[in-house]
Amino acid sequence: MSLRIAVIGCGAVVADLHVPVLEKLERAGVAMVAAVADPAQARAAAIGRFFKAPKLHTRMEDLWRETPCDLAFIASPPGLHFEQALAAIRAGAHVLVEKPMVTRAADAAALAKASADSGRIVAVGQTRRFYPNLRAVRRRLDAGDFGGPVRFAFYEGGVFDWPVASGAVFDRAKAGGGVLFDKGVHVLDVLNGLFGGAKVLRAWDDSLAGGVEANAVVELEYEGASGTVQISWDQPLCNGLQITGPKAEARIDLDAIGRYQFRGSDGNWRWEPADERWPRSLGAPAAEFTPTDYYECVEAQWWTMLRAIQGDGAPAVDAAGAANVIEAIEEAYRVAQPLNLSFLSAAERGEAVRRHWRVGS
Ligand SMILES: NC(=O)c1ccc[n+]([C@@H]2O[C@H](COP(=O)([O-])OP(=O)(O)OC[C@H]3O[C@@H](n4cnc5c(N)ncnc54)[C@H](O)[C@@H]3O)[C@@H](O)[C@H]2O)c1
Repeated sequence: MSLRIAVIGCGAVVADLHVPVLEKLERAGVAMVAAVADPAQARAAAIGRFFKAPKLHTRMEDLWRETPCDLAFIASPPGLHFEQALAAIRAGAHVLVEKPMVTRAADAAALAKASADSGRIVAVGQTRRFYPNLRAVRRRLDAGDFGGPVRFAFYEGGVFDWPVASGAVFDRAKAGGGVLFDKGVHVLDVLNGLFGGAKVLRAWDDSLAGGVEANAVVELEYEGASGTVQISWDQPLCNGLQITGPKAEARIDLDAIGRYQFRGSDGNWRWEPADERWPRSLGAPAAEFTPTDYYECVEAQWWTMLRAIQGDGAPAVDAAGAANVIEAIEEAYRVAQPLNLSFLSAAERGEAVRRHWRVGS
């Protein structure tokens, strides 16, 4: 029998990124979407029509009672992930949860424990772990090619244009925060994949009381690395990750995942191809491929998850691995200072400080 998947939350990310892969897995006979669940009946129906025989649910409490599944794919608003992941584990299912795994550090630790205690896998949708260029640079770091502690600068900004089905992403109670809990989760996970666990040194954001931040800057320290992250929902930045060590430098364009720029002791920048491979079948040995775009990274993530469930390998990011990112964001919020946005007038800047959610009056 093929593995039964419950899709929980049927918004933009499912429609855009996951439906094509899930259809492919159904066609290959390795998995079937047995249930789609969303309180908005129309959204559940819109996603359900892509699959052979899914049961539609609008009440989450009915889902696990009526439709047994082996794997819960959770793509609801982030504030719901923790309870829905626990419910899936209690029903005996493995979990693939979209980023951010949860919105509170205490919940991250509790979910990691629930996963360990139950033997159910909790994997997190950190799709960038499947970028060939990031894995290639990680290999260089491991090989000592940079020659010692490195500095990094990571910029990621653009005007928000994701076609969300709900407004949850702009609501701190539902999403945990703003751009840090959205783009920031990807950025911090990339850095964790390269350098290990983060320590937050300082942080600035532009959230006013009652709102969420659209811009944030965080200074971070890792073992053997330190640097700055700047992210934005409302302005383009000089996007990319630059890593500088005593012996070498690399520039990584997150939109061109098959290559990166590198310069070693000769001082000349050159493009390096990245042809890292991931599984694309359940067989042994696995068929493998090099993802060329984000959609193919989503596919690599699904095959890796299904293989982990059958006992071959582990997910790229599990609950314990994702916990540090949530802890770092919580700490960044705890120490947040008002961000000085140069495009504001002096009067607007004064007002932004006065109304800042952390230090404002
Ligand atoms: N990996 C990525 O690149 C990526 C990209 C976009 C979004 N995401 C993540 O995916 C998740 C969903 O984001 P989105 O953009 O699809 O949001 P969205 O607002 O488009 O969709 C959310 C959906 O969840 C539904 N929902 C609300 N309450 C629910 C409940 N109790 N149970 C089940 N479903 C419920 C809503 O009706 C809506 O259909 C978020 O965690 C987001 O961060 C990941």
